[in-house]
Amino acid sequence: MRAWELTADLAVVGTGVAGLTAALRAAELGLRVVIVTKATIEDGNTRWAQGGVAVALPGTGDSVDAHVTDTVAAGARLCDEAAARAILAAGPAAVSALRARGATFDGDPSGLRRAREGGHQAFRIIHAGGDATGAEIERTLAGAVSEQGPLRLPVLEGHTVTEVLRDGAGRVAGLALLGCGDGVLRARAVLLATGGLGQLYAVSTNADVATGDGLALALRAGALTADLEFVQFHPTALYVGPASRGRQPLVTEAIRGAGAVLLDITGAPVMNGVHPLGGLAPRDVVSAAITNRMSATGTDHVLLDATHLGGAQLRRRFPTVHAACIQAGVDPGRMPIPVAPAAHYHCGGVVTDTSGRTTVRGLYAAGEVARTGLHGANRLASNSLLEALVMGTRAAEAVAADLTVAPRPAGSLPPPCAVRPVADRDQVQRAMSAHAGIGRDAAGLAAASAVAAASTPQRPRTPREAEDAGLTLAAAAILAAATARTESRGCHLRTDHPRTRARWRRNIAVVLDSTGAPMVAGPVPVGGAA
Ligand code: SIN
Repeated sequence: MRAWELTADLAVVGTGVAGLTAALRAAELGLRVVIVTKATIEDGNTRWAQGGVAVALPGTGDSVDAHVTDTVAAGARLCDEAAARAILAAGPAAVSALRARGATFDGDPSGLRRAREGGHQAFRIIHAGGDATGAEIERTLAGAVSEQGPLRLPVLEGHTVTEVLRDGAGRVAGLALLGCGDGVLRARAVLLATGGLGQLYAVSTNADVATGDGLALALRAGALTADLEFVQFHPTALYVGPASRGRQPLVTEAIRGAGAVLLDITGAPVMNGVHPLGGLAPRDVVSAAITNRMSATGTDHVLLDATHLGGAQLRRRFPTVHAACIQAGVDPGRMPIPVAPAAHYHCGGVVTDTSGRTTVRGLYAAGEVARTGLHGANRLASNSLLEALVMGTRAAEAVAADLTVAPRPAGSLPPPCAVRPVADRDQVQRAMSAHAGIGRDAAGLAAASAVAAASTPQRPRTPREAEDAGLTLAAAAILAAATARTESRGCHLRTDHPRTRARWRRNIAVVLDSTGAPMVAGPVPVGGAA
């Protein structure tokens, strides 16, 4: 007997940019929407996003073609170019829609101010509040769904999803929510917009809620996932000491775009001779160069010298970074900022087409949890907020179109909350950081896989246990893909296979086998999902 049951057309899991954009658009299209989050509406990664929205605005001398070129180059030849073009071309309209909802971006007399970040050959990143773009987007979208907003959408805060429920025909029929068996949200469509999985690593720029929940839910529902081995490390998280764990403050790339220089501990420039774009090379290149230099100098951080900007300008243009530095006892106007790479973004995820459809009927994904083909082996800076805006809108429109022809769920719902393997979170984080970060090899990947496999079967009864089950599965899936890719490409650097191999210019798909363990499957179907 379930304690309660709710019904909706669309259940949106997650309250980041993609989730809220989708929920708003779906409601505008007349769907009954319920938003579910394990935390509160403000608790996602969005508010920490300092980098802006990369968009080729008309009339700026930039073009979608140029943006696609930079995206594909950063993606180490593993992007789906058609998907990238479709998503990036929809950028200007997505930004206009967000501004129409009330978001304000930084401007100058010639229009929106545009900055540069790593891998971009053009000034095309728009920001809000200097380095507080995520906070402004979240304010806008959360305001629109709130009690005071025009649509007033129901938000189930503090509800952990344990399973995507499917009917006898395999179609999505709703969500099981904690406590086990107590709550069910019946929905003909489910959109996963749960963000990333930075908490798989000991040190990350991600919020505490980024525990790979959506990836695990999709895998268990039978969805195809791909490019999981590509976990992007941001080159410059603020380094606050050797014992630091969890979320670290980001030091945005836009500071390098404004001329800051990476130096090693001896004062030698890190990026000289490494890449034609120097400190503004794609993120995987900069993170790898920093890692090499740290190893050569026997240190665990490097320095970012932004003193040429001076304290007043840093405070005005980069208020979030400035405040974090001051709090850590570093005056960035007077001294270089200690920085080190940290887990930042999952380039792979649940395979979708460019309308957010996964390979499971009725299941959609958008934002970081999804793999559209835009990012390839390494995401271009500030393409993620753009992708979330575009794909949130498109997924909502796809749900509305699909529901007009979808049959009603057949039969009763299966009982939720199966027993799942759960490994120790601290051990998993340490193993992933040691063996599945920048610089991997077969022995290390096997050691990390053994840690993930040293799990005990549990029926998750608390949000923390449900997260741990998700982290365990996400780790195993990433490790399976990383083990299979015997080359180095983008964010995936293998010390035992340092070269990029033409035969590996293909995407690795992962699904669950009949025992529930991740297995590497065939190639990703052209055009993404079914
Ligand atoms: C940054 O500001 O450096 C991060 C932007 C991003 O992750 O795209």
